[in-house]
Amino acid sequence: MFPPPRSRARFYGRSTNYMTVARDALAGRIREGDDVAGIERDLAAFLGAKHVVMMPQCRVGIFLTLRELTRTKKKVVLSPYTIHDVINMVICAGAEPVFADIDRATCNIDAREVARLVDRNTAAVMVTHLHGLACDVEAIAAICQERGVALVEDTAQSFGGRVRGRRLGTFGDAGVFSFGMAKNVNSLYGGAVATDRDELADALRAEIAGLPYFDTETLLRRAAFCLTGDVITWGPIFGASTYWLFRFGYLHDVEQLNKRVRGEDAPAIKESIPEAYLRRMTPMQARLLAPQLPEVDRLSAIRLGYARRYDAGLAGIPEVIRPPLREDGSHIYLNYAVQVPDRHALLRDLMTRGRDLTVQHMGNNADYACYGRWHRDCPNARATASSVLLLPTYPGYGDDEVDRNIELVRAFYARGARRAAAPVPITEEKAVG
Ligand SMILES: Cc1ncc(COP(=O)(O)O)c(C=O)c1O
Repeated sequence: MFPPPRSRARFYGRSTNYMTVARDALAGRIREGDDVAGIERDLAAFLGAKHVVMMPQCRVGIFLTLRELTRTKKKVVLSPYTIHDVINMVICAGAEPVFADIDRATCNIDAREVARLVDRNTAAVMVTHLHGLACDVEAIAAICQERGVALVEDTAQSFGGRVRGRRLGTFGDAGVFSFGMAKNVNSLYGGAVATDRDELADALRAEIAGLPYFDTETLLRRAAFCLTGDVITWGPIFGASTYWLFRFGYLHDVEQLNKRVRGEDAPAIKESIPEAYLRRMTPMQARLLAPQLPEVDRLSAIRLGYARRYDAGLAGIPEVIRPPLREDGSHIYLNYAVQVPDRHALLRDLMTRGRDLTVQHMGNNADYACYGRWHRDCPNARATASSVLLLPTYPGYGDDEVDRNIELVRAFYARGARRAAAPVPITEEKAVG
């Protein structure tokens, strides 16, 4: 048998956050204080942006920003390889998604496709810096500037990343961030839009000011969910029970268990913004964020350390496409996303041998029937969507866990290579023939 592994994921944010939530809820202080304005100032300074407007979720930031930027022209060029609710937000904003294929080496939108697809009806290009890796943002910003279209950066997975010292989310007209529970900065629900454009910031502020705060029950429910997640992925409990349940669910295809850890639901189109999305971040959530900001770069450096280890350890396996190794801050390695041709065969083997890992559940939105009106053939997104396996990098995961993942991935492909090289056994039929 094998020692139980560490969990595939852990929530970011301080454990004292739960105390803050409970204390503020009991004292009726969740909506009190000017902490939202305070965190907006802190974030603007951190990013080097003129304005930051806090959002209830990143997706709402995308919706409101695109609604402002697509008042006259309607096309928004974007990557199809993202969460499907991002596509919904484009549609809810009254805009028309134009899917531009990605570069397989980065999983991000291909700048050449952007140049090809922007036309006189294009209002904006929205790039995603997926898995923490900056897209080719300088080239795309130059294309946008030259053609007079807006650039929006979906920085949900790459908060703190930099290109040549400049923070991601500040290269275009707006950068949109997520502080949702699965991100490297966590306020239960949360997001922000950064922009240097005064009129955009004013319009977003006016929209947000008209929304109700999250209600206490919603926040308590989310905090309870995160706390449960923290407890069941805590080493001793994870090793004694949770892991075996997750493993059983995966190896025996138990949908009831698997859907709880999947993160992405089945894609379904939304044509109008759900009422439940239209909320406002509370001062209590801003208080959760404040102590996390100074930690962002330190934690990114820890993840980079794991990425270096994976990069060296997985080098030379022809089946494995590794993400680029970036030492300059342009990849924060929210995960170490490798692409392999047979990801479920590999994952099954790794889970059988005592690992806890997952595939990336995002799909190629350009192929989903619900977005059929906007279908475009994006072969790289299609191939990538069925290939990505996420290797953990969260601080506290441990070099030994990284090394064990490497060792078992190498062994899996070495066995495959040995099988491929073995002489084909002569079957009776062949012998007779
Ligand atoms: C690339 C990307 N964009 C947008 C979002 C939406 O973030 P939020 O849940 O804060 O709306 C996510 C969330 O997972 C994401 O991964």
